[in-house]
Amino acid sequence: MNYETILVEQRGPVTLITLNRSQALNALNAQVLADLLTALAAFDADNSQGCAVLTGSEKAFAAGADIKEMQTQGFAEMYGSNHFSGYEMLTRTRKPIIAAVAGYALGGGCELAMMCDFILAADTAKFGQPEIKLAVSPGMGGSQRLTRAIGKAKAMEMCLTGRLMDAAEAERAGLVSRIVAAADLIEDAVKTATTIAGMAPLAVKANKEMVDAAFETGLSMGVQFERRLFHGLFGTADQKEGMAAFVEKRPGVWTGK
Ligand code: CAA
Repeated sequence: MNYETILVEQRGPVTLITLNRSQALNALNAQVLADLLTALAAFDADNSQGCAVLTGSEKAFAAGADIKEMQTQGFAEMYGSNHFSGYEMLTRTRKPIIAAVAGYALGGGCELAMMCDFILAADTAKFGQPEIKLAVSPGMGGSQRLTRAIGKAKAMEMCLTGRLMDAAEAERAGLVSRIVAAADLIEDAVKTATTIAGMAPLAVKANKEMVDAAFETGLSMGVQFERRLFHGLFGTADQKEGMAAFVEKRPGVWTGK
């Protein structure tokens, strides 16, 4: 399948998706959304694929929603079309997606990275919600996800001033899981994704769902949800295999059942 704005390649069990509008610093326009939705649906449906990596260029993961596309829109068009609601579909992908961020991840770019399951940052990464400088605000979940990820003080400061956060600060704040040398970013992300893709598929889905629940529910509901999913995994053949493999001191062989 050929896409206009992204490149998609399979590296073993890992789908590597690269935003490919470098002339616009990977600004997210309607075509990027359409391409991402198609590629991620194909990834989710493909049993040979266990984890995806979403990345951009060396200079920019994505410098935001496409300002030129939005510039002339009015309230009626934005509200009427529920602009940006399509991105929520990305968060419904059941298999994990790692954002591998080098360079700018601003506005919608930062929000897109935060929609992924975790962010690996190159040492060149810069995160920000600079929409206020355009007299608007985050519109793809940034005020909510950034606040949950790094807390109110930093999120409020970033949204109100538009200042950027470098990779070291983003790691200290808990926005990214790790920092990697820029030259090693893709290799490291694919390696991490390969590790995840090597786990029992139902356990991967269950672990992703329960960590997501921590973002979306209160503590007692979240713990209850986790426990029920944990119980559910004892109905899988892979749980029997995983525990037998541990006792027999050998690697597990997964069937996805
Ligand atoms: N939308 C459309 N085009 C963009 C863009 C964006 N978000 N960001 C960069 N571009 C384009 C520039 O217009 C420029 O195109 P031309 O060559 O045709 O002029 C090209 O990409 C290269 O950009 P610059 O020349 O500006 O590159 P730079 O190195 O001087 O600066 C930058 C880099 C600091 C990231 C700067 O491009 C910038 O500030 N970009 C906008 C960042 C921003 O405000 N993002 C938020 C957008 S709104 C949003 O995302 C809403 C939401 O919540 C969903």
